[in-house]
Amino acid sequence: MANAIESVLVENRVFPPPESLAQQANIAGMAAYRALCEEAERDFTGFWGRLANEKLDWTTPFKTVLDESDAPFYRWFADGELNVSANCLDKHLTNGNAEKTAIIFEADDGTVTRVTYRELHARVCRLANALQAAGYQAGERVIIYLPMSIEAVVAMQACARLGLTHSVVFGGFSAKSLHERLVDTGAVLAITADAQRRGGRTIPLKPALDEALGMGGCEAVRQVIVYRRTGDEVAWTEGRDAWLHEVEAGQAETHTPVPVNAEHPLFILYTSGSTGKPKGVQHAAAGFLLWSQLTMEWTFDLKPEDVYWCTADVGWITGHTYIAYGPLAAGATQVIFEGVPTFPDSARFWRMIQAHKVSIFYTAPTAIRSLIKAAGSDVKVHPNQFDLSSLRIIGSVGEPINPEAWMWYYKEVGGERCPVVDTWWQTETGGHMLTPSPGATPTKPGSCAMPLPGIMADIVDEAGGPVAQGQGGFLVVKRPWPSMIRNVWGDPERFKKSYFPPEMGGHIYLAGDGAHRDAEGYFWIMGRIDDVLNVSGHRLGTMEVESVLVAHPLVAEAAVVGRPDDVSGEAVVAFVVLKQSVDESEAPDVAKTLRDWVSKEIGPIAKPKDIRFGENLPKTRSGKIMRRLLRQVAQGQEITQDTSTLENPAILQQLGKSH
Ligand code: WTA
Repeated sequence: MANAIESVLVENRVFPPPESLAQQANIAGMAAYRALCEEAERDFTGFWGRLANEKLDWTTPFKTVLDESDAPFYRWFADGELNVSANCLDKHLTNGNAEKTAIIFEADDGTVTRVTYRELHARVCRLANALQAAGYQAGERVIIYLPMSIEAVVAMQACARLGLTHSVVFGGFSAKSLHERLVDTGAVLAITADAQRRGGRTIPLKPALDEALGMGGCEAVRQVIVYRRTGDEVAWTEGRDAWLHEVEAGQAETHTPVPVNAEHPLFILYTSGSTGKPKGVQHAAAGFLLWSQLTMEWTFDLKPEDVYWCTADVGWITGHTYIAYGPLAAGATQVIFEGVPTFPDSARFWRMIQAHKVSIFYTAPTAIRSLIKAAGSDVKVHPNQFDLSSLRIIGSVGEPINPEAWMWYYKEVGGERCPVVDTWWQTETGGHMLTPSPGATPTKPGSCAMPLPGIMADIVDEAGGPVAQGQGGFLVVKRPWPSMIRNVWGDPERFKKSYFPPEMGGHIYLAGDGAHRDAEGYFWIMGRIDDVLNVSGHRLGTMEVESVLVAHPLVAEAAVVGRPDDVSGEAVVAFVVLKQSVDESEAPDVAKTLRDWVSKEIGPIAKPKDIRFGENLPKTRSGKIMRRLLRQVAQGQEITQDTSTLENPAILQQLGKSH
């Protein structure tokens, strides 16, 4: 109870932007923010057209800003042409940034490598030349399965330079997940590393790719390019495999970028939805580029002298928009980190901020919560042991940040001087949607504040109608925006069905989150409205985990739900009916077997924290699994719901015991 009261008190606090930011930020003051919002409302296409002209270098200027003729397949700047990599690199060769540090790479063991914009451009050109010479053509797909590295950025940028559509697969995903993506994209090339180094450990990468390729159906893959990261011994397929350093050797350091249509697919990134298979979210070159650059300037107030650090992995959307593209397009100096926040100890982030004089820091609530815990038990890893005075803006992404964690972040990390930008967005939105503007919006702990200018976000009921202020509803975006998802790769029907419900008219974007708005217009996210979990900021479909569990020979039936968790936000709880029941003493072993299975099939992030065995699952007489009930059981709550429609009420008792 005390906690709940404290939450309310914290939630009601408001923190105005520091005076210096309110004067000098890229959006300085609420009046400036409102002026931009009004410009977008008054002349929607004029607003976006102005920004696209001002911010991007076009090889063929666009005439039409927005084509809605085939909505919800919106097309932005669709008669224009440009190259994304030229906008991230080449422009800096002539605008005074050539010798500026683009990337400060800190390896797991602390080794630091710096590259300037000129050097990064040269590296990207060498790889692009090699790929072009090997015959890869714009529009073909490339799977990238690399650790956090300069090489990952080089690979993505080289693809963009040639109009190759990349699909980055997070290094923590299994061979099976990799296989699905290789097949679904019809990839012609895969780029990987021998292994990755995280937290002092070596984790192999190439073996998973070899295994995936061996599963069949990916015969389109002509070549596997391997970055030698650890020097570990790897199996080699002659004629197919090539070392990255050998591929690049002798290649020219200049390259003419291939112009592509504004709508050309820059990348496909898979994300979990409420049904079994992850969706290939397709993003378009120009719109994505525009918003990634612009939000660097607006949300992070990026200035030439900033040192920016986003701790996400390039395998997720945050690493695409806010590592591989946005910071480069905006000419930032950014830190890229190979390792984990807890190695060699839980002060790694603070030590790195101090060492590199980071001024803009962007991380996830899960990391913050685990570092709060660590600092609570060991004063040596508390942020107050370090000089964090270089920080001026701190951001949060990927999941709701609870007001207590927000306050700690604001006080202990930001020294009560740095605005916390709690950014709400999704793989599908391509970039920030709801966020405070650090030089304008007074912040409220736990609220992601308001839509950025041009983003027509709203909260509606099932029919798309308005809801009263304070009332919960569906978070939607009523008008398209340049960095929005263009399609689900190869499945336009699923695209329409998942995001543009006919009940709402078929052209309004449904985010899949619930939200409400307070009297001052601040949005408060209430969590997913579908069967998607958020575990440590990673999206996971309950059906995805269920279908893996039922594929195991021991399992007859499974249901997966989420349970609130202090550190990871949500934890996976699996209810399992085995084909042959096991006794108490065997249960822990079987639970371990199933956990390992899920880890192998999807990846360690999907591992159920808790597995419950029962003779059956609670179902209605019509056979529907009662998930709401299972969620209560998972939390150890008293069942308040009417269970009279249950086929077998006694089962709830049995499912209460965890393994
Ligand atoms: C959740 C990550 C509350 C939300 C960029 C969304 C958030 C899903 C926030 C997208 C936030 C993301 N506050 N919830 N600031 N940011 N979410 O696609 O449920 O991995 O729908 O994109 O994360 O996750 P995704």
